[in-house]
Amino acid sequence: MNDQVIIFDTTLRDGEQALSASLTVKEKLQIALALERLGVDVMEVGFPVSSPGDFESVQTIARNIKNSTVCGLARAVDKDIDAAGEALKVSDNFRIHTFISTSDIHVQSKLRRSFDDVLAMGVNAVKRARNYTDNVEFSCEDAGRTPIDNLCRMVEAAITAGATTINIPDTVGYTIPSQFGGIIQTLFNRVPNIDKAVISVHCHDDLGLSVANSISAVQMGARQIECTVNGIGERAGNCSLEEVAMIINTRQDLLGVRTNINHKEIARTSQLVSTLCNMPVQPNKAIVGSNAFSHSSGIHQDGVLKSKNTYEIITPESIGLSQNVLNLTSRSGRHVIKHRMETMGYNEADYNLDELYASFLELADKKGQVFDYDLEALLFFNKMHEEDEFYQMDYLSVQSGSSVMSTASVKLNCGGEMRIEAATGNGPVDAVYQAINRITNLDIEVVDYHISSKGKGKDALGQVDIVAIYNGRRFHGMGLATDIVESSALALIHVMNHVQRADAVAEQKLKLKEEKETV
Ligand code: KIV
Ligand code: ZN
Repeated sequence: MNDQVIIFDTTLRDGEQALSASLTVKEKLQIALALERLGVDVMEVGFPVSSPGDFESVQTIARNIKNSTVCGLARAVDKDIDAAGEALKVSDNFRIHTFISTSDIHVQSKLRRSFDDVLAMGVNAVKRARNYTDNVEFSCEDAGRTPIDNLCRMVEAAITAGATTINIPDTVGYTIPSQFGGIIQTLFNRVPNIDKAVISVHCHDDLGLSVANSISAVQMGARQIECTVNGIGERAGNCSLEEVAMIINTRQDLLGVRTNINHKEIARTSQLVSTLCNMPVQPNKAIVGSNAFSHSSGIHQDGVLKSKNTYEIITPESIGLSQNVLNLTSRSGRHVIKHRMETMGYNEADYNLDELYASFLELADKKGQVFDYDLEALLFFNKMHEEDEFYQMDYLSVQSGSSVMSTASVKLNCGGEMRIEAATGNGPVDAVYQAINRITNLDIEVVDYHISSKGKGKDALGQVDIVAIYNGRRFHGMGLATDIVESSALALIHVMNHVQRADAVAEQKLKLKEEKETV
């Protein structure tokens, strides 16, 4: 049997479905490029029929990704499959993933049809998708709770119709490893044409078993795992990419399979996804949690000092975490910054050295010492806040204290026009937000505000993440500075730039529509 396990990443589809604010096209592309560097074989990047925004992002990613297969999701209905085919056809390497529920509970309560109808719909969907591509995946949603005879019938029929990958999802995370592995084994024993397709698994983590179930399926012959970075996804999430990749790598002796994942990209991709998705990683999470490689008890520390492998089965370096943290100051030259970035695994194409160096000097002046993690934070931040943004902060001054009313003055560059306002507020952040709102008059409601430190110590960079609603749509904004009031202002400005871009796109679409109607 083939020893390669295909890694199918669904961070930008199943993962994205679970976020408090949806990602912008630019953010999705940034993640897609990171996934490509990480070496995922297939990336599922959206559900094109679900909204014009999803269609556009799937198309943009399909245009830009060259080394991974780009995939779009479609229910087993014609309009979904056509939308996926249309969005993806700009790529020469794409897959359509179509699905329908097969468990009794879904067939009867959700679809309200007979199983035979569902089987016919699945077969039609696969045939329709084959008109766009030879690379068609079919999923039996809620396969984990589907009677095995029905599952075997559906799988056989989908393969006969032309599906080249058959996915077996444990949609509600209900099964346990021996049971889920048993389902895969039964399919191999009973479906006569099973060798004509790759068998895939897609496990959710409701009982915390998604990774164990996926590995058990691989032991029974599955050769594709569907997963997400940091395990993000519906409810308790999906199977975590970094965990399965490192299990397969670390326990090759037992499993005898491999993946194409470039492990050294794991830490960086995890941080990018966490930051852009506004989804912190729990400190004790396997592989990518901040405590994953820290040894607390004296006995453990003593053991690790004597020989690392006493308590460490994988090294931080193997996932791209640099242990050699150098501290830089404003006297460090550009070549030092470039060298640090190279050591951390970034090549020049990943960042703009002039911009990064300018932000580094600014930070070094404020903070004195700058560490590797500060440089990475600046890099993320520079990518998010580009120079051509419509709204830019020019000046901010705040007075606050325990016995004075907080007041703020803000000067904003609004598309080239300088505007200034002052306001009082219930605390310094509120005063700044009131002043900004006076300038822009945008009806933005901040519904979530979170502050965290990026790095260590009291002079660490402060990161502010907000979720805000504008015109019924949710936006995520992020700000980073040594001053947390400034970070708060930057986070709101980040949202305002998302809003401005969304408004500009909507206006352009309306104009095109009007022009078409006039013609
Ligand atoms: O969990 C699930 O069943 C899914 C399918 C669409 C594959 O996400
Ligand atoms: Zn799912």
